Amino acid sequence: MKLILVATCMFGLEKLLGEEIDALGLKRLETMDGRVTFEGTETDIPRANINLRCAERVFVHMGAFPAHSFSELFDGVRSLPWEDWISRADAFPVKGHSIKSGLTSLPDCQSIVKKAVVERLKERYGISWFEETGAKYQIEFFIFKDMAHLMIDTSGVALHKRGYRPEAGAAPLRETLAAALVMTARPREDILFWDPFCGSGTIAIEAAMLVSGRAPGLGRSFAGEAFANIPGALWANARAEAQGRIRTDCKFEVYASDIDEDILDITYENALRAGVEEYINIFQADARQIKKEDRKGTVVCNPPYGERMGEREEIERLYQQLGGSFKALYPWQIYVLTSSDRFDRLYGQRADKVKKLYNGMLPCYLYEYFKPAEARSNGARTAKEIFDRKPDRRPEGRDRDRKPYGPRNDRADPPKKKL
Ligand SMILES: C[S@@+](CC[C@H](N)C(=O)[O-])C[C@H]1O[C@@H](n2cnc3c(N)ncnc32)[C@H](O)[C@@H]1O
Repeated sequence: MKLILVATCMFGLEKLLGEEIDALGLKRLETMDGRVTFEGTETDIPRANINLRCAERVFVHMGAFPAHSFSELFDGVRSLPWEDWISRADAFPVKGHSIKSGLTSLPDCQSIVKKAVVERLKERYGISWFEETGAKYQIEFFIFKDMAHLMIDTSGVALHKRGYRPEAGAAPLRETLAAALVMTARPREDILFWDPFCGSGTIAIEAAMLVSGRAPGLGRSFAGEAFANIPGALWANARAEAQGRIRTDCKFEVYASDIDEDILDITYENALRAGVEEYINIFQADARQIKKEDRKGTVVCNPPYGERMGEREEIERLYQQLGGSFKALYPWQIYVLTSSDRFDRLYGQRADKVKKLYNGMLPCYLYEYFKPAEARSNGARTAKEIFDRKPDRRPEGRDRDRKPYGPRNDRADPPKKKL
């Protein structure tokens, strides 16, 4: 059956997610903040769940209609073919959100949607009471600019939970965001990949999984495995297809180091569970002292942010020191994710590119240094310049050079409500 599917992601990852959907040979239909809509069939639901590295969930899109009032919402939901998916014994809880729309009360929307689905199924099945003891079909509504979208979640537990990280350090990075950083850095087998602030090892593990061809969802289960429309054979085939893509001849090498020796046991356990420990060299080191080995390399890291009071000065000193030590690594490429919009100022080098991303609800910046130092012109913009709402009106030349990084107290915009 031809279906419309929706993959959701954290803000800022839509482009990478879209490219992943293309790579699965699926046709993209629409991209909006935090979601990419695409065409597929039942076969593609397991493929998308198992293979997409940046997606948080995969949904079946049941339909969309204008919903300015509760009665429009009720009628629209009742007109959708819920019986195509949900059988008489199945459970169908409802949740959702509403953005930039007249219908703002989520509990009311939730109970209207539930009632409308119940009415529809009552008519179809000729029963008046639903036990809801069977498979769970989580219904999600998303009302955006008065247009209601109704979906069924096929993932269950969010896809960033790969299953390899039951234990994490104090500030672990979401696996989907770590995968996005890795994909941005385009790791290659002939280039050493190093996370010198590895914590629980998420970036290193995602890099090893990507280069060795290991799909992120191979070690876990999905809600859709209980769906009657997606027979077990489709899941088994998708797993076999993903298993077949794991490379056994891969020579990729990853260094994962951290100043905190205690966390390295967790890093190792996680790498082991992910099945990529053979690629990762885990050791204790101070990132300020890492040395360029006689080879090509890429550093991708997520140093401490210092969000708590009192830590800020210490963290800013660390960023300054990194500027000194990482400079010696050129022409290695350096990718740093931090919530500081002053990182490049403290580091002492304008980034070639700065991307705004979100670590959960925390806005953060990915500073990308990929050009050789001599090729880096003053034309590259700072995070402050890139995300300033107003155009930069400072004159070209000396003034701009004297204060290239903008005022200290310019903070990032608060995150938008998740779409
Ligand atoms: C934000 S956490 C990294 C989280 C990691 N990406 C993960 O997913 O678990 C920062 C890490 O930097 C480490 N760290 C702090 N200062 C360091 C230094 N000078 N050198 C190396 N590691 C350091 C901390 O021990 C902590 O594990």
